[in-house]
Amino acid sequence: MLQLAVDTALEAGRFLKMNIGKIKQIEHKHGEERNLVTEIDKKAEQLIIDKIKKRYPHHDFLGEESGSHKAVSDYKWIIDPLDGTTNFTHGLRIFCTSIALEYKGDVILGAIYDPSSDELFTAEKNKGAYLNNRKIQVSQTNRLMESLVVTGFPYDISVNPYNAVQHFSNVLMECQAVRRLGSAALDLSYVACGRFDGFWEVTLNAWDMAAGVLIVQEAGGKFTNFKGFPSDIYTPNVLATNGLIHNQIVEVLKKGMKEKM
Ligand code: IPD
Ligand code: CA
Ligand code: CA
Repeated sequence: MLQLAVDTALEAGRFLKMNIGKIKQIEHKHGEERNLVTEIDKKAEQLIIDKIKKRYPHHDFLGEESGSHKAVSDYKWIIDPLDGTTNFTHGLRIFCTSIALEYKGDVILGAIYDPSSDELFTAEKNKGAYLNNRKIQVSQTNRLMESLVVTGFPYDISVNPYNAVQHFSNVLMECQAVRRLGSAALDLSYVACGRFDGFWEVTLNAWDMAAGVLIVQEAGGKFTNFKGFPSDIYTPNVLATNGLIHNQIVEVLKKGMKEKM
């Protein structure tokens, strides 16, 4: 199953790469000005689902573009065909394909492929995390002030209730630097391989994080909600770090939290 996820992520990722700069149709999702979808997102998702369905016709699927397929199966494939759509529409080569597989509610494998750098991040539950087949580990940085961290902003930033900008400015004051790449799946992959020491974001969806969170955990990192409590991929506010700076970020996030969380 991991091999199928990998083969499919590679194929979809190459399809994205071939089509950068060739977008014909850009639509807005949920009536949100900033939330874009192109025909390439949709075609990539169809390609992924078709390929997996050929092998596993009775599995369930949750895809960003086609929603929940609601099959009765213990297996559910969770797919973000193009994570980083805004970058993609601007010709900025920071985007990837993310595929995860859930079994009885637990994510058991994930594959994230970035066709621009030809980097493939993979993990299987209890079997470690890999970048292009070499084992990866989170960083050893244990002070937030020495940490390079990353975040993202939700499309509904102007009405989102979770103080994303406040958190950004609070963390910025307490760490070495903050980045914003525009692909949550790559943000998480980079935490897993030690390029970043931590990542947080409000209002993510399961498809943005399913593969990435498993990859971080299998690389020795920690994944919780903003309060530092155990979380799952259906909880929108995400904190994933190398583990060592986790409590320090939780303390900073607390300052920006209103009761709502
Ligand atoms: C988005 C990216 C971005 C994050 C947004 C996501 P999409 O996914 O992961 O980094 O900040 O919250 O929605 O729309 O490009 O698949
Ligand atoms: Ca996404
Ligand atoms: Ca997407």
